[in-house]
Amino acid sequence: MDACNALIVDDEADIRELIEMTLLPLGVSCLSVENLGEARLLLKRQPFSFCITDLRLPDGSGLELVAHIQKHHPSLPVAVITAHGNVESAVEALKLGAFDFVPKPFELAVLRNMVATALRLNRGSEGRPGDNRPVLLGKSGIMAEVRALIAKLARSQAPILIHGESGTGKELAARLIHLSGPRADKPFVPVNCGAIPEHLMESEFFGYKKGSFTGAAQDKGGLFQAAQGGTLFLDEVAELPVQMQVKLLRAIQERAVRPVGAQVEVATDVRLLSATHKNLAALVQEGMFRQDLFYRLNVIQMRLPSLCEHPEDIPDLAEAILDRLSQESGGAHPRLAPTALAVLRTYPFPGNIRELENILERAFTLCEGQVIQAEDLLLPVVENRLRSSIPVPETSGGEPAMEPLISPTDSEPKTVPYPSAPVVNDLEGYLESLEKAAIMRALEASRYNKTAAAEKLGISFRALRYRLKKLGLD
Ligand SMILES: Nc1ncnc2c1ncn2[C@@H]1O[C@H](COP(=O)(O)OP(=O)(O)OP(=O)(O)O)[C@@H](O)[C@H]1O
Ligand SMILES: [Mg+2]
Repeated sequence: MDACNALIVDDEADIRELIEMTLLPLGVSCLSVENLGEARLLLKRQPFSFCITDLRLPDGSGLELVAHIQKHHPSLPVAVITAHGNVESAVEALKLGAFDFVPKPFELAVLRNMVATALRLNRGSEGRPGDNRPVLLGKSGIMAEVRALIAKLARSQAPILIHGESGTGKELAARLIHLSGPRADKPFVPVNCGAIPEHLMESEFFGYKKGSFTGAAQDKGGLFQAAQGGTLFLDEVAELPVQMQVKLLRAIQERAVRPVGAQVEVATDVRLLSATHKNLAALVQEGMFRQDLFYRLNVIQMRLPSLCEHPEDIPDLAEAILDRLSQESGGAHPRLAPTALAVLRTYPFPGNIRELENILERAFTLCEGQVIQAEDLLLPVVENRLRSSIPVPETSGGEPAMEPLISPTDSEPKTVPYPSAPVVNDLEGYLESLEKAAIMRALEASRYNKTAAAEKLGISFRALRYRLKKLGLD
């Protein structure tokens, strides 16, 4: 293994010595300096495997050094030392590009884990080649930005809150952040926070000791233990009950969990990613989600665009989905007829990419022959702009605002609502209502002349008659 060396920046001799002594057995030699000026000088003079810096230094702030390193040595991992409980500066350092922070007083295990991650980062072992990693498709600019952001965020250990309408690829993005980072060879553990019964939450997350409750026949590790060294993905994080939010916050702060019935805590080394289609900031204001936990989970925010923001990606996505379907079935590979593709491109996709998958899956099964026709898609007929004109529950109304993909978050939760998906519990029903509304409007506009209405809708008279019957409108 290559020799590893670290740059330690701290004005207290004791601390420098403590870090040196901790790193030495790990095969890391240290060069220690007392202030920013010396650190900058050394950085110019020689390469380092990683850097650990205190925040308060005689000639400035460690945050300046983080920024300096981001600018001049972007591939050098840097971690900051923070006073215990000083969340603000830890969060600020992460936002500036520090890959992690080390709380004082040092816990040996925490320091060691941090160093191990830094060294993996430095060796560039992330994203092992040859594995069949899923890909985030889409040639549009907005998806290219998402991919670039994923690559960038993968290096950091900062918690990320991913938001976006349902079916936009939040879980896929979380997996990619994990797989492109230094934890790639450790577990990625997704957990749907809305699916665990409240009374089981604590033992599911933290594990339990044998005999701690009826049925606990032996010790069992929880989700944190399962994700050790890797990533815990809190999906539907808005669904966490408040009581569990408190416990989770503690686990994050202490980097340790206490299994139900246990006397002592177990150290954990887990990166947290979370996702929601809800407006978490608004939930904080309504008192439904704890602000302190929100602040912790939302260090960096990432937004996945709705499919209607990048319809130019629909052909490629459709092609890839059909590829997969034909591979899975081992059979033919049907093409999309040009009209079918045209229809897909104008459909608003309230269920986003997942809905596109479902539509194509159904068409794949239904289509007889090699070509999927527009009829095989069984798309609800909607006018192009229907989506924004139909009132849907729980949205802020109007067009979805274009937001930057990454937005630095402040301690004060902003009230700016991000676009949330219409809550579609019953997709078929929702689609049917869209279809009905479009047909009714076309009929009204053509004074109930079905031939004219069909023409307006761009479908045949027969197709309209069939749909009227199906929807009970005839
Ligand atoms: N950019 C993309 N390229 C290829 N496939 C994608 C892309 N985005 C999403 N998908 C696919 O779409 C489906 C839905 O994605 P995913 O489950 O990640 O969405 P989600 O935002 O977590 O949805 P939900 O809110 O419903 O949980 C998955 O099968 C995923 O593989
Ligand atoms: Mg999901």
